[in-house]
Amino acid sequence: MAKDFDTMEDSNRSGNTSIHQVSDPSKRISLQLLAGLSLLAQTAWAKAQNAAASASSRLNFQALSPSLEDFVQVPPGYRFNVLAAWGEPVGIAGNMPAYRADASNTAEEQAAQMGMHHDGLVFFPLNGSSTHGVIMTNHEYTDDGLLHSDGIENWTAEKVKKSQNAHGLSAYEARLTERGWQMVRPSRYARRITLDTEFAVGGPAAGHRMMQTAADPSGKRIKGTLNNCASSMTPWGTYLSGEENWSFYFAAGEAISPHHKRWGLRAKSFYQWEAHDERFDAVKHPNEPNRFGWIVEVDPMDPLSTPIKRTAIGRGAHEGAWVTQSGDGRAVVYSGEDARFEYIYKFISRDKIAPGGAAANRELLDHGTLYVARFDADGTGRWLPLVHGSGPLTAANGFADQAEVLIKARQASDALGATKMDRPEWLTIDRDNGWVYCTLTNNTNRGQDKHPSVDAANPRANNTMGHIIRWRDENAFAGDTFVWNHLLMAGDPANEREQARGNIQGDFFGCPDGLSIGPGGLLWIQTDVHSGQLNQGEFKRIGNNQMLVCDTTTGQVKRFLTGPNMCEITGVSFTPDGTSLFINIQHPGETPTDRGDPKYPNQFSSWPDHIDDNRPRSATVAIRKIDGGVIGW
Ligand code: FEO
Ligand code: CA
Ligand code: CA
Repeated sequence: MAKDFDTMEDSNRSGNTSIHQVSDPSKRISLQLLAGLSLLAQTAWAKAQNAAASASSRLNFQALSPSLEDFVQVPPGYRFNVLAAWGEPVGIAGNMPAYRADASNTAEEQAAQMGMHHDGLVFFPLNGSSTHGVIMTNHEYTDDGLLHSDGIENWTAEKVKKSQNAHGLSAYEARLTERGWQMVRPSRYARRITLDTEFAVGGPAAGHRMMQTAADPSGKRIKGTLNNCASSMTPWGTYLSGEENWSFYFAAGEAISPHHKRWGLRAKSFYQWEAHDERFDAVKHPNEPNRFGWIVEVDPMDPLSTPIKRTAIGRGAHEGAWVTQSGDGRAVVYSGEDARFEYIYKFISRDKIAPGGAAANRELLDHGTLYVARFDADGTGRWLPLVHGSGPLTAANGFADQAEVLIKARQASDALGATKMDRPEWLTIDRDNGWVYCTLTNNTNRGQDKHPSVDAANPRANNTMGHIIRWRDENAFAGDTFVWNHLLMAGDPANEREQARGNIQGDFFGCPDGLSIGPGGLLWIQTDVHSGQLNQGEFKRIGNNQMLVCDTTTGQVKRFLTGPNMCEITGVSFTPDGTSLFINIQHPGETPTDRGDPKYPNQFSSWPDHIDDNRPRSATVAIRKIDGGVIGW
């Protein structure tokens, strides 16, 4: 998300060796993409890899220049179409209210339509297909100025409800047609998950006293999910989504507790739901915030399934979580917190991943060990266990049991001396060579007065441009030590300030956010320069937010896509054969204050509808090569 509130600032006030394996792209089969796929799809993927290997070069497309146009642009030889914009009915049989461009859809109608501000998304193939599948996507937040016909004036219970119903997740069926990718409606897979959807709680914090509220004395049933940011597919075919800036939704009053303060809660909320929905009043319901900040797991193939909050992975302002398999068959889950001076985590399951998909792995993520990363200056690092009773994580230090360690993962990581990072956003795992990549989008407080100084992993003061770090764990993802280095430091080589120039080989960019290993091991990078900074100051040559591709075997970067005005690019996912690529265009036309004025709805962007006085809408973009080949090759 583009918001740049103080909770992303340093709520944390607690105190190279390059191992580079170049492999044959024909053998670089991404397990992330193979996850949950049929043998048929795997064969198609292997064929795609062979096609990629026979291509004359990697990054075999014409790079784009920076853009200030209010359009999506892709290289020659590629085409795209837009689908599933905010307000489109998701396709629930008998409940498909049409989008009304004046934003007059009711809260009830919104609950059957695509929510606002799409972020992470995943394509789940049906029967292994690369032309037919289910797309699940996050709706991170709302811009209430655009969501309601008369904006944020006259704040009512109906507006709060509509805002809540525009949050959450959507699942819809999609098929490749002569007109590109289109929604299939109605569909048995169509689903909306909103603040009204009941979630179960799994793992050590289920039922804990800090999870209990007046409405849920059991501490095991939670209504809804909040501020869902990045997403991924597990090897057993489910969807993982991170609850990121949930603290903005709670009003904690003036006498804020140290626990709430450490988690960035403030006296008043940003979204003002507490005016009509008391559970967001954290003075009256101080445990309600503890019920957010989790990684949630959803089975996209069963719209009647109960989604689950996985507490064993730890609580955070989670961007998302990404899973691979250790050498001995267990699930290894990497995650991070997008907040200034917060941490990177790894969870290793107790049990092995079982064959048999979602049904066979229902409790896999409820048992295991959570670790937090420490990056040392010599290019090595260590995963520090967040285990109750070990080291400082004792009752005497405020951690009564394992559940409290997980609910207070930030405080526990402070106590262990983990490395405070420059806003960890997406991660991605190159299973072919063991490197795990993470975007550190920016941190302008780094090295400033009263803030942590630079360190080896976060080496730039006033880090406006961000960087990409990577590590490789010992013992096939399962080890507690690793080696690490920087893939690149982002920036503009012509920048007046040396610290903002970076070292990118090829096309320059700022503020990396979305990240994914794609076909043949190419690394896809999506950017999120804040709309209040785009095309100004240090960012004036960089243009609108964009998507680039990095060949990690050479470090070369090429600009593949440029977005419309004031958007962020996010949500990268490929079909199994690598011939279709889905991304989300989030918050086109966002005003720097994040509260659009309904009198001037297309002040900065009219994407994607481009009609008079339309409201800009977040939407999914499906990209294909005109010759049907593998994207990026
Ligand atoms: Fe939701 Fe950190 O971006
Ligand atoms: Ca971001
Ligand atoms: Ca992000």
